[in-house]
Amino acid sequence: MYPLNRNRRLRSCASIRNLVKETQLSVNDFIVPLFVVEGKNIKKEIVSMPDYFQWSIDLLDKEIKELWRSGLKAVLVFAKIDESLKDNKGTEALNNDGLMQRAIKTIKNSVPEMLVMTDVALDPYSSYGHDGIVQNSNVLNDPTNNILSEMAVSHATAGANFVAPSDMMDGRVLKIRQRLENEGFFEVGIMSYSVKYASSFYGPFRNALDSAPSFGDKKTYQMDFSNKKEALNEAIKDVEEGADIIMVKPGIAYLDIISLLYQKINSPIAVYQVSGEYSMLKTAAEKGFLDFNQVMMEQLFAFKRAGASMIVTYHAKDAVKLLNQNF
Ligand code: PBG
Repeated sequence: MYPLNRNRRLRSCASIRNLVKETQLSVNDFIVPLFVVEGKNIKKEIVSMPDYFQWSIDLLDKEIKELWRSGLKAVLVFAKIDESLKDNKGTEALNNDGLMQRAIKTIKNSVPEMLVMTDVALDPYSSYGHDGIVQNSNVLNDPTNNILSEMAVSHATAGANFVAPSDMMDGRVLKIRQRLENEGFFEVGIMSYSVKYASSFYGPFRNALDSAPSFGDKKTYQMDFSNKKEALNEAIKDVEEGADIIMVKPGIAYLDIISLLYQKINSPIAVYQVSGEYSMLKTAAEKGFLDFNQVMMEQLFAFKRAGASMIVTYHAKDAVKLLNQNF
């Protein structure tokens, strides 16, 4: 009771504020999304994501070494697939010499200790831009799972440490786990996009990978943003099916979901701060409306405070620079 308690005492200088800090953020918390493209000597800025780049494989070695030197130890790889290789069967996704598979090998060659996580979904490979096989405008569940599980094996064979299914088909985690076990990939983990909402925050990413759906939307497989109980349901099912890490996506608009899963689930939680979140902040900062560094750190701390163990974020490199300056 005031004046016996004055909460401002614990805020009176930086030293005491640091002592009572309840949440820590460090370089160990980040997973870096990496966009890979065909070609040579390409480091191309993504129009919808200022200061974020697509990389050709020959430039990956240098970038991966730089990430590792800065203390970043995990990447999440996405491949931009040539239009001519897209079909409705995921053929290219299973090509053991495909862009994704070559990128995995290159990264592992460059820094063997780098944790390589890979996006497992058909949309970059689909002539329809959907996350599964399309029939009569429906996205088929079980036939898609068969391909996803083979895709996971292909990534594991190339050297991936974790596969990250981002498609939201039912039962795909079980199917992937079974296939990985059958092939002897006992140590390859699954980071499941368990709670992935049908979100318009993915717009800039779809521009980066040229993977926007050619008809309809993704609401028959990604979740309705009005729902919360369903999030718990999805997460529990994925843990039962063998997921090692549960992901919530997008980030800032879904802190309540992270917090709920943190209380109810014993698996580590990842959050994906998605492209639209990145681009909003970048654009506002470019206009001088927001302080980029301060807002970025406020958001990253919020994820940790809500209960996330790890953050997939396009801000990883910038955040590490600030943390090194004792932010
Ligand atoms: C592919 C996938 C998407 C994202 C990650 N994996 C797009 C989508 O589901 O449409 C979005 C990432 C981002 O916006 O940063 N299934």
